[in-house]
Amino acid sequence: MTVTQVSNKVSEKDIEEYRGQLLDWYDQHERHVPWRIPAGETSDPYRVWLSEIMCQQTTVQAVIPYYTKFLEIWPKVEDLASAKQEEVMAQWAGLGYYARARNLHKCAQVVANDLNGEFPDTQEALKELPGIGDYTSAAIAAIAYGRETVVVDGNVERVIARFYAVEEALPKAKSTLKTLAAEFYEGLGNECGHLAQAFMDLGANVCIPKAPRCMLCPIADGCTARKRGQQTDFPVKAAKKARPQRFGKVYFIDNDNNEMLFHRREEKGLLGGMVGLPTTEWGAKDTLNTPNAIKSVKSLKLNVYHVFTHFDLELELCKGTLTEAEPPEGYFWADPYNELENLPTAFKKALKSYLNA
Ligand code: ADE
Repeated sequence: MTVTQVSNKVSEKDIEEYRGQLLDWYDQHERHVPWRIPAGETSDPYRVWLSEIMCQQTTVQAVIPYYTKFLEIWPKVEDLASAKQEEVMAQWAGLGYYARARNLHKCAQVVANDLNGEFPDTQEALKELPGIGDYTSAAIAAIAYGRETVVVDGNVERVIARFYAVEEALPKAKSTLKTLAAEFYEGLGNECGHLAQAFMDLGANVCIPKAPRCMLCPIADGCTARKRGQQTDFPVKAAKKARPQRFGKVYFIDNDNNEMLFHRREEKGLLGGMVGLPTTEWGAKDTLNTPNAIKSVKSLKLNVYHVFTHFDLELELCKGTLTEAEPPEGYFWADPYNELENLPTAFKKALKSYLNA
């Protein structure tokens, strides 16, 4: 082991014992989530893949209703592959990180059309597919196919950072944490999927970011941070930059049929491919250009707020009109009550606020 930031070395024998305790704990306490199957049954790689893509940067609780709905509409990878992209985006609305939905659809098409409907069964081959990176390929290979891989998500990082009291700060510490986590996975063969999910459940329910419940932890005895009473000092994180504030205006435009003007956003960029309301770009307050297709009529003196990963957004609600008789390309009329559910959260807040005003 060449990891210099770790003062607490753990012997191979002890690691074997701790991971055994963690697996036993998982047998008793695993979360009941719909993509897990009872012991002895074979995983469906399509379901494992769908759940892992949805769980990226999203809590299990938020994912469950979306996962269930997707499987109802598209029970097999071939069904998802032949869906319209707009429909996939609409069903994904509210889950965030919309590039995931575009890649999900692309990946389903590759698997259905080029791979005979079968997901590859190795981490290397899985990683070649759209939207599948290091973490997701490791997770699918281990959970769906019983491969020995090293599965490290944010939960695993937190558990390992505390267990070894890793002083190095995230995100730089990622490779150190992965090297340390690998010792737990090494030699575990087809149980790596269970171990991965045991770490995840421990991280989600016991080794939680604030006020960890160490009394319930099956590996508390070996945890260096706990021995020092410094659990919440780990993982160490590099100071975060403050999120910048951006502003925008959204326009509410109706026609004589009680319809409202909506806009399908460009494929590239923030909320790419999603349906939104007509809006200025989002930036500094004095640089907000109204799109050519739209004339601003008046401010409704009503603002909504939304937090994105990289900035805070304040949207001012405005009445507008079209500059031409017909909506230009990308814009369309629709019933606002029908579109509401298909909107990403920032626009949904704006539309709800408008409809309730
Ligand atoms: N987060 C990502 N994958 C997960 C899984 N399989 N179980 C629980 N949480 C997860």
